[in-house]
Amino acid sequence: MKILFNIPAYAGNELRYISEVFKNRKLSGDGEFTKKCSLLMEEKFNAKKVLLTTSGTHALDMAALLLNLKPGDEVIVPSYTFTSTANAFVLQGAIPIFVDIREDTLNIDENLIEEKITNKTKAIFVVHYAGVACEMDTIIKIAEKYKLYVVEDAAQGVNAKYKNKYLGTIGDLGIYSFHETKNYSCGEGGALVINNKKFIERAEIIREKGTNRSKFFRGEVNKYGWVDLGSSYLPSEIIAATLYAQLEKMDRIQKKRKSIFEYYYKKLRSLEEKKLLRLPSVPESCNQNYHMFYIVLPTEKRRNDLMRFLKTNNILAVFHYLPLHSSKMGRKFGYKKNDLKNTESLSSRILRLPFYYDLSKNEIDYVIKNIKTFIEK
Ligand SMILES: Cc1ncc(COP(=O)(O)O)c(C=O)c1O
Repeated sequence: MKILFNIPAYAGNELRYISEVFKNRKLSGDGEFTKKCSLLMEEKFNAKKVLLTTSGTHALDMAALLLNLKPGDEVIVPSYTFTSTANAFVLQGAIPIFVDIREDTLNIDENLIEEKITNKTKAIFVVHYAGVACEMDTIIKIAEKYKLYVVEDAAQGVNAKYKNKYLGTIGDLGIYSFHETKNYSCGEGGALVINNKKFIERAEIIREKGTNRSKFFRGEVNKYGWVDLGSSYLPSEIIAATLYAQLEKMDRIQKKRKSIFEYYYKKLRSLEEKKLLRLPSVPESCNQNYHMFYIVLPTEKRRNDLMRFLKTNNILAVFHYLPLHSSKMGRKFGYKKNDLKNTESLSSRILRLPFYYDLSKNEIDYVIKNIKTFIEK
């Protein structure tokens, strides 16, 4: 048996919708399928505006542009995240102020944010790790107190909730990723969620190469031109058609992922009880979206040995993220190893198990059997 780490789901209508795009001879962005994707997410997630983008990374870049960040501005961000979360505002000259993560959820520790705020702080970028929400009530309260913007990196958090609000719709701006490793995917893709109305008009312009073309298409102006900064952040209709086929089956995909998560959990619980490893922890305030299943081993060596053992048995388990603060770029901002204890410790001990829509019980049993063989030997 060979078990890959990820295989993107095929929801059923992808090829039919792509062929419709070709039949309609409208391949560039912002056609019918883009509109359908945006509307579906706006209605389901109760979001003011959702703009499809070419990636989660580009949605983050748009968020940083919208906040008008200037060189020297400070942005609070976890170090335990993908490079794109920080690159977005570092590209604008802003400085990352890295905050450690919570032991239980691996999300930014909300109790460590306030002490990092200075008169240069402009925003807090939070990351909902594994589709499990950050403690948003506390974070929003801090942001209101110091008049800071909140951007939610919900790249992994599509269709997950915090206290009945969908992730991505709580801060001023949110972003989603539809990369092939995510629950709903179109290969490469993303979305910007705009919750603070003042950003809507400018977001459309930034996304359309700095022009007011969106207004022109709606018939609101009779010519469009260069009005602001911008780039090309809109995906083609072929991508949007693929994504729509997945979004329309969002709940079915999530239900299947839930059953995979729960099966892993049930089968590995005895190892957690013996304190041989730790399983994901989901606070009561969160309805997660079952984005991943990870385990945390007692030491880095144990994690690496298990990963190697699984690989020799044809099971691909992986880890991420290398902490940003102690990376080559992070060190340029004055950070060093040992600055953020939980980030470093958890990043060195986490292991993500194979997790995808078509993963069968048989395959999960094989993964579990191998984990148990390694751990109990
Ligand atoms: C937390 C986080 N933010 C941003 C991204 C970037 O998303 P994309 O690959 O769609 O650019 C990822 C991608 O894996 C991610 O995990």
